[in-house]
Amino acid sequence: MQAGQDTPGGSGGRAAGAPSAELAATAAATDWEYAPAPESRDIVTIAPEYGLFLNGEFTPAADGGVLETVNPATEEPLARVAEAGPADVDRAVAAARAAYEHVWGPMPGAERAKYLYRIARLLQERSREFAVLESLDNGKPIKESRDVDIPLAAAHFFYHAGWADKLEHAGFGPSPRPVGVAGQIIPWNFPLLMAAWKLAPALAAGNTCVLKPAETTPLTALLLAEVCQQAGLPPGVVNVLTGAGETGAAVVAHPGVDKVAFTGSTEVGKQIRRTVAGTGKRLTLELGGKAANVVFDDAPVEAAVEGIVNGIFFNQGHVCCAGSRLLVQESVADAVVDRLRSRLSTLRLGDPLDKNTDIGAINSRPQLEKIRDLSDAGDAEGAERWSPPCQLPDRGYWFPPTVFTGVSQSHRIAREEIFGPVLSVLTFRTPEEAVTKANNTPYGLSAGVWTDKGSRILWLSQQLRAGVVWANTYNRFDPTSPFGGYRESGFGREGGRHGLAAYLDA
Ligand code: NAI
Ligand code: MG
Repeated sequence: MQAGQDTPGGSGGRAAGAPSAELAATAAATDWEYAPAPESRDIVTIAPEYGLFLNGEFTPAADGGVLETVNPATEEPLARVAEAGPADVDRAVAAARAAYEHVWGPMPGAERAKYLYRIARLLQERSREFAVLESLDNGKPIKESRDVDIPLAAAHFFYHAGWADKLEHAGFGPSPRPVGVAGQIIPWNFPLLMAAWKLAPALAAGNTCVLKPAETTPLTALLLAEVCQQAGLPPGVVNVLTGAGETGAAVVAHPGVDKVAFTGSTEVGKQIRRTVAGTGKRLTLELGGKAANVVFDDAPVEAAVEGIVNGIFFNQGHVCCAGSRLLVQESVADAVVDRLRSRLSTLRLGDPLDKNTDIGAINSRPQLEKIRDLSDAGDAEGAERWSPPCQLPDRGYWFPPTVFTGVSQSHRIAREEIFGPVLSVLTFRTPEEAVTKANNTPYGLSAGVWTDKGSRILWLSQQLRAGVVWANTYNRFDPTSPFGGYRESGFGREGGRHGLAAYLDA
């Protein structure tokens, strides 16, 4: 294999006992000075205050509630947004119901499609604005918001626009009908993209929506509301209620909601399932994960290392399908971990708006504390922590890319979702052992496999209990491809033909 191959920093050796001198040499040899390359924030105008998007208009919360969203990279307040209370949820559901019955439900699919295409095109036209706003509010690198979040959000609207007039040919019977009013609650890790995942299939199928963005990242959903206005979307078809958990709970419990779609923590998913039980409401849950990324001894090491880095350090590891458990075959473990360490030493952490930044800010203080607690548990339970030398900014919420080796299956860092830039490395000897370890989790959202053998990919992907299995790649998303989990990762699929099923009564 490529292990032992010479690298610029001379880190190809396997001096596992003395990694630090070697890494220092690597760092010195590759310590390129990058000039700052910040994306201008002038493209986006952030209002000091935002209302709820209700029946096509922005309006304050009935009880005057507001909450503040900050830039997690600087802790600077960005805007105050309305916090929706029960009266606002009533108003939003009533608006969505009226739009469903009188406008959107009866509208021919070909007409609905035009609005979805329009939204998709507006997202493309305003993509820089969305990317900058997403990075400011969420802390993710502009490289990711610009190249992943925003283009994929537009792609979801384009893709579902194509379905709107073809639903009777989608295999759901001759005349599938929309479900009605959808209550949709989304998290902060991919704010605009999750809004698109929820809204686009619901609207294509003829439903109307009450969307509740996460409290730390409401701004791109509000800009999307503005895009809905710009696209001439009839009032009430999309309503955006900003607020925190209580607002979400009120949407879920509202008797006028026919379908609930949730992405977020397993804990809240369980609460929602209890609330919805026995009401006849439809439910899909996309929850946490603790995915295994399995590297066999015949895998191309350089490619696997890129996949490992992408799997766990993309979006600061705030990814439900993150490859947070690296399972590497014992015979190549030292070589893979060496390469991984030298690769991590080249990542740049810092200003999310800088185009060269690889690792941005942690989204919130509570999330940072959770990452710290779980990492400390890793130390306490005897795993070995490693991070590349890296200077954290003084202000804001930051955590360095971190790798734990010597992890055993019983460690909390091997069992619990950390949702941060922290990788736990475990080893295996045989393919059977890889399967057993990979499946030893209450979750079942995703997995990765790295090997040269097609037959092994097919065999392993059938053994793994995960909704998505990536082979020789990781974190690859496409609106045509269904995504979703098993067990504590939730149920239901989003994307593709399968995703439409959640929004149709066949
Ligand atoms: P969370 O599940 O509390 O938040 C997700 C969304 O649900 C937010 O919009 C929130 O306002 C809303 N929400 C909170 N309580 C609710 C309730 N009782 N009823 C209805 N909606 C409610 O997640 P949180 O606290 O932000 O993160 C905690 C952990 O959850 C993370 O550390 C991570 O492990 C996991 N998580 C998983 C995500 C995923 O993509 N699967 C996304 C976000 C968090
Ligand atoms: Mg924020």
